[in-house]
Amino acid sequence: MAVIRNFRYDDLDRIAEIVSSSLGEYYPKSLYLEKSHDWEEGFLVGVEGGRVVAMLLGIVQGRFETRILMFAVERSYRKRGIGRELMERFIDLSVMKRVKRISLEVRRSNLEAIRFYEKFGFKNTGVLFMYYSDMEDGLKMAKQL
Ligand code: ACO
Repeated sequence: MAVIRNFRYDDLDRIAEIVSSSLGEYYPKSLYLEKSHDWEEGFLVGVEGGRVVAMLLGIVQGRFETRILMFAVERSYRKRGIGRELMERFIDLSVMKRVKRISLEVRRSNLEAIRFYEKFGFKNTGVLFMYYSDMEDGLKMAKQL
């Protein structure tokens, strides 16, 4: 069973590894700190056996919306409910923040993640053509609270 908690500065190397291997992106530590600066509670990690194995970075966007910027579970820890635990915690945090919706973007080909989001009530709200650096389209999704 994973423990879900807020990120700490010394998690950032592991977080960058998970993001790099799962999302194919490498960001400097400063990017994570900058994005989480306004709402540190929205930056969550999943820990199992003392090891950070999952992350979800959410931000507040305007008065009425939170947005999931990055969400990944290390491959060998997937399909064990850690993603669900992170998402449920993030939804609770968003409800407490009194926002009206949660938004995100996902690669159009990422059917596993799209199906996961749909199970939590996210709906397709539009397409971002050639959104990613390799020109793949992005799907905009949102969940009303
Ligand atoms: N035994 C078997 N299956 C289980 C168990 C279990 N104990 N617990 C959950 N599951 C199933 C769930 O029912 C679900 O199955 P289904 O999809 O067939 O219905 C599936 O496992 C996934 O649920 P979780 O385990 O809670 O989710 P997971 O921990 O695998 O995380 C995530 C989901 C984050 C999408 C993961 O697949 C991942 O990291 N993918 C790669 C990165 C990625 O695509 N991230 C999203 C990009 S978009 C963005 O970042 C905004």
